[in-house]
Amino acid sequence: MPAKQMESGFLTDPIENLLGVHRDLIAQALLRLRRDLADGTFLRQQLYTLDDSRFAGNTHHYWIRLGLDSASQTWLQDLESRKLPDRLVQWLKSQLNRKILLRLPQEYSTLVKVPFSVEIDSVADERDERIAWAIKHRLPATTPYSIFHSEINRLLKYIGHEIQPPNESEFDSLFAHYGNNAIAKSRNRFPEVWDELRGHYILDSRGSLFAKSLVTELKDRKLLLSSSKFVDIGSGIGTNVFAVNHYSKAHATGIEKHPGIMRMSHVLKRRLLRVRRLDATRLDFVLGDAFDSRAANLGQYDVFYVYSPIGKWVIDIDMIVDRAKVGSVMVLNRLPIRNRDMIEPLNNVAGLYAFRKVREKAGD
Ligand SMILES: C[S@@+](CC[C@H](N)C(=O)[O-])C[C@H]1O[C@@H](n2cnc3c(N)ncnc32)[C@H](O)[C@@H]1O
Repeated sequence: MPAKQMESGFLTDPIENLLGVHRDLIAQALLRLRRDLADGTFLRQQLYTLDDSRFAGNTHHYWIRLGLDSASQTWLQDLESRKLPDRLVQWLKSQLNRKILLRLPQEYSTLVKVPFSVEIDSVADERDERIAWAIKHRLPATTPYSIFHSEINRLLKYIGHEIQPPNESEFDSLFAHYGNNAIAKSRNRFPEVWDELRGHYILDSRGSLFAKSLVTELKDRKLLLSSSKFVDIGSGIGTNVFAVNHYSKAHATGIEKHPGIMRMSHVLKRRLLRVRRLDATRLDFVLGDAFDSRAANLGQYDVFYVYSPIGKWVIDIDMIVDRAKVGSVMVLNRLPIRNRDMIEPLNNVAGLYAFRKVREKAGD
């Protein structure tokens, strides 16, 4: 093993000798790059420099299209600034070009919409703010960041340097990429998650960025304390469950009835545990029908989350209100119908309906 060989001093390859001598400087450069690749602003300034953005037919909508400059070497300029021997820099560059540059998508495109309620004079500022946000947060989520992260960790291991856990923005990008992968794989493997009648996926998710903002809003409203129990009814691959576990101190449970999709959430769980950013003691996944009392007791939770598009596996919100305890809060994409007297509305959370159960059914 190269790292061991370096320790024992029996090195014949001059590159490995150089790697050993300059280990700390190389590790600093690699860790910095691992961080930078999780940051959309860095990607925009160093790699996605070809800009073909334009108005999308009116003053308030804007198409963003950024092309990858495949010849760019500026993203590696930090390596050069560290005064490492030329030969070593060339070797590292060729490794990184092969492992990272060649795997980046050729372009990033999105549509930025400024609400029509924004006055024409303020549109440019509002638009620029939204574009900067999209680039910073959404651009890294479109790259295979988890591959970059593990390739860089592999290089760190190769030179015999300690591997540090991901920082917050690295975690965000890992989470986004793992999540995108798990959704794509589930849709491929389990064709039944496509609702032919309605023409949409039963397995749908608002993604990791939404999950983070959901947790932030629930925390701001003091709904995710260390004593709180959160549950996602129909948790899919577990995006919101992981987000609650990671971004708050609350306990998080996911209940999912599809065994294959549940398996995907376990794969994702193992991956996130491996990067040491989840607390397994506050995390549960339950396989089964959320309304089957042998599988789940819905009376124990403080916060419910449901995202259920209308279709063949639609989740009945009234059945949740029936089973929830008085005082629990529900954040949903649809409203209950029968049980409207048992709930009171709260301010929206992350753009979704929110309400609290205030009483049991009359006569109960
Ligand atoms: C649209 S997905 C939402 C996934 C996840 N909540 C999210 O927002 O990322 C809905 C999920 O609910 C699951 N589901 C539907 N009815 C269910 C039930 N009665 N019990 C448990 N899971 C259910 C489906 O299998 C599907 O994976």
